[in-house]
Order: sequence, then C-alpha cells, then structure tokens
Amino acid sequence: MPCDRRDFVRTGAAVLTVALVPGCASLVTRRVPLENGMVRLSLRQHPELADPRGSLRLMPDGWEDPLYLVALEGGGFAAVSSICTHRGCTVDLGGPGFACPCHGSQYNREGQVMRGPASRALTRYPVRANGDELVIEVGR
Ligand code: FES
Repeated sequence: MPCDRRDFVRTGAAVLTVALVPGCASLVTRRVPLENGMVRLSLRQHPELADPRGSLRLMPDGWEDPLYLVALEGGGFAAVSSICTHRGCTVDLGGPGFACPCHGSQYNREGQVMRGPASRALTRYPVRANGDELVIEVGR
C-alpha cells in the first residue's frame, strides 16, 4: 500500500500525540474555592503532591488564569502564578520547570527566571502547612 506525504504527516502527528499524552496526563487542574484571599487544600485528598515532582494546576473561583502548586525536591511547596512576567502569556509546567509558549522564557519550579526574555520571576504566593492542610495566601 503506497504511503503519500499526507499519510506520513498524519501518522507522525498521531504517534507524537500518543508519546506526549502521558506527560500531560499527570497534571491535574482543580477548581478551588477562594475564601478571604486564601485557598485551602487537604494533602490527603491530593496524593499527587506527595511526589517530590508532583504538581497541581489550581483555578481559584473568580480567577481567569490558573496558578500552579508544585512540590519541591528539597521539601515544601511553591505556589506560582501562571502569568509570564514578560508580556503576560500563560506558562506551561513540564520538564524542569515552566515554559512560556509566546517568546520562550523559562522558569524553574520555584518561578525563578532560567532564560529570557523575561527578567522577573513568576509571582509566588505564600504557602503554609497546617497539619494535613495547605493554605495558599493569594490575597484577592
Ligand atoms: S510573554 Fe512569556 S516570554 Fe514573552
């Protein structure tokens, strides 16, 4: 059976999609209530955060852009805005940190700039552990 260029491209795209899906599937997005400028999460109900490279994408009520809650390899958590500090595109989490699809800025998992054009770190929100509960102070 002959394989023309269009079939080759279509098959390649399908293979690439299957190869990338497992990496995307690990990131969970949760709508979360916002009370008095704080988001509260139970660690028991989010086992993905027990993994030292675990993460969640959170969408607080009333927000238009998500924030990321990432477990840090040294322990603890970072709550990081998804808004690129260069020109405001939404960054993606994957690999060693965050990447901006617009102009290629890269940030580590704590939101520090690893490669420009962005020159400022992603906004971080304070995270407090209170027993099983994490409290993220987003302030709005
Ligand atoms: S908006 Fe993110 S690099 Fe330009």
